[in-house]
Amino acid sequence: MTKFIALIPAAGIGSRIGNTQPKQYLILNGKPMIYHAIQTLYYSEHITNIVIVLSPSDNIWSQYDWAAFAKKLVVLNCGGATRAESVLNGLKALPNTIPVDEKDWILVHDAARPCLQPTQLKKLIATLTNDEVGGLLAIPVADTLKHSNHDARSIGTASRENLWQAQTPQMFQYKLLTQALSKTDSTTITDDASAVEALGLHPKLVIGDTSNLKVTYPEDLLLAELILKKAQHNDLT
Ligand code: CTP
Ligand code: MG
Repeated sequence: MTKFIALIPAAGIGSRIGNTQPKQYLILNGKPMIYHAIQTLYYSEHITNIVIVLSPSDNIWSQYDWAAFAKKLVVLNCGGATRAESVLNGLKALPNTIPVDEKDWILVHDAARPCLQPTQLKKLIATLTNDEVGGLLAIPVADTLKHSNHDARSIGTASRENLWQAQTPQMFQYKLLTQALSKTDSTTITDDASAVEALGLHPKLVIGDTSNLKVTYPEDLLLAELILKKAQHNDLT
């Protein structure tokens, strides 16, 4: 049977947030950021394994107790210089650790997106499970978009029609994603879908919601924490 395997690239340093610790370990709602993504993926009935791709020099992961998620966790220390390289290294190392079929679905999810809701994950899987290409959670662009000159002055307005913001998880079959990432320049792409697009395929955009934000700048931390607290409150009531 086709499996659903989550893969979390977590080998970044979080330079834009400017902290001494890699951002995936910053504490949100009492837990390291990456904990929250793992938790949502762990409690999905579809996901069989959660692969964490760490930097070879990571010495923080092992300071925490991950026993609660042990049944599904696979930890690999093969992160690369870019997100795309970390994902590809993880995909290549995976068959040495767990059985993987080329048709198994891989759900790549950023460690920096702690607020993924179970309903969004369920919707993504339900929408794409019989899809020929795969796809990703995304939201139509809401803001007006500006072109700037080098002086940060607006020189024009771009139409936002047909423009989307890509989120994660991004869900593709093992063989397709491995081939796509092997063929692209990992220094220029920032998500998995762009590697698949470069093959001439058209990933499905599954409408997500804005709560699944990527924590990138310091001010995102407060917002992520509020969303997590609200979700926890809803669970308890
Ligand atoms: N990532 C990775 N390997 C890298 C770079 C990024 O696994 N060489 C991961 C990050 O850990 C994160 C996800 O890719 O979970 C999304 O990347 P981003 O938000 O850009 O995180 P960072 O690269 O850590 O942050 P920054 O770009 O601000 O340095
Ligand atoms: Mg980055």
